[in-house]
Amino acid sequence: MTDATDTSENVFTVEHRVPTAEREARNGHRGGVLWFTGLSGAGKSTLAFSLDEALFADGYHTFVLDGDNMRRGINADLGFSPAHRSENIRRVGEVAALFAASGTICISAFISPYRAHRAQARAAAGDHFHEIYVRAALETCERRDPKRLYERARAGEIANFTGIDDPYEAPDAPELVVDTDRLSVEESVRKVRAYVHREFRLT
Ligand code: ADX
Repeated sequence: MTDATDTSENVFTVEHRVPTAEREARNGHRGGVLWFTGLSGAGKSTLAFSLDEALFADGYHTFVLDGDNMRRGINADLGFSPAHRSENIRRVGEVAALFAASGTICISAFISPYRAHRAQARAAAGDHFHEIYVRAALETCERRDPKRLYERARAGEIANFTGIDDPYEAPDAPELVVDTDRLSVEESVRKVRAYVHREFRLT
C-alpha cells in the first residue's frame, strides 16, 4: 500500500506518562474495543450507534468507528479488493487500539470479512479486544437491503460484494454473538450492554 522502506527504521517509541490504568480508574471502567463483525445489513451500525447512546447515558466513555464513515475520511483512498480491505482494517484496528489505550470503549462496526485481518486488529489492541459477531443470515440481510446494495450486486452493478461474490469468514470463537435475525435492536443492545457492565466496570 505505502512505500515503507525508509520510514520505520529511525523511529522510536515514546512512552506515555499517564498509564492507561490511571485513565481507566478515573473513568470507572476499562478501555477496550468492541469489534463488531458481520455482513452488510446485519445491523452492525444500528447496534453500534444505539449501544453508544445507551452506554453514554450510563456514564461510559465511548465512541463509534463505522465502516461507511471511515471510508469517507481516513480510508477514502481504499476500495474493496482483499488488499484494500486489509489496509482498511489495519488502519481502523490501530485507531481503535489508540481509543482503548485512552481509556475509551471504542465500538467498531466493519464487515471485516477476513479472519486474518480481524486477528491483526486483535493483536493491535491486545487484551482490550472483544470480538462481537453480529449474525444474520444472508437472506435476512438481502431482504433488509437498507442501501439497496444487494439488489445492485445481484444485478452485476457492484463487484466483489461481501456475501454475493466475495467471502465472509465467520468468527470461530467470538467473545459474544448477537443474532439480529432473532433479536430486536433493543434486545441486542441489552445483550451487549450487559456484557459491557460485566467486562468493563471497575466500580
Ligand atoms: S470491510 O469489508 O472493509 O470491512 P467496511 O465495513 O469498511 O468493509 O465497509 C462496508 C460498507 O461499504 C458496506 O456497508 C456498504 O455500504 C459499502 N460497500 C460498498 N461496496 C461494497 C462491497 N463490494 N462489499 C461490501 N460492502 C461494500
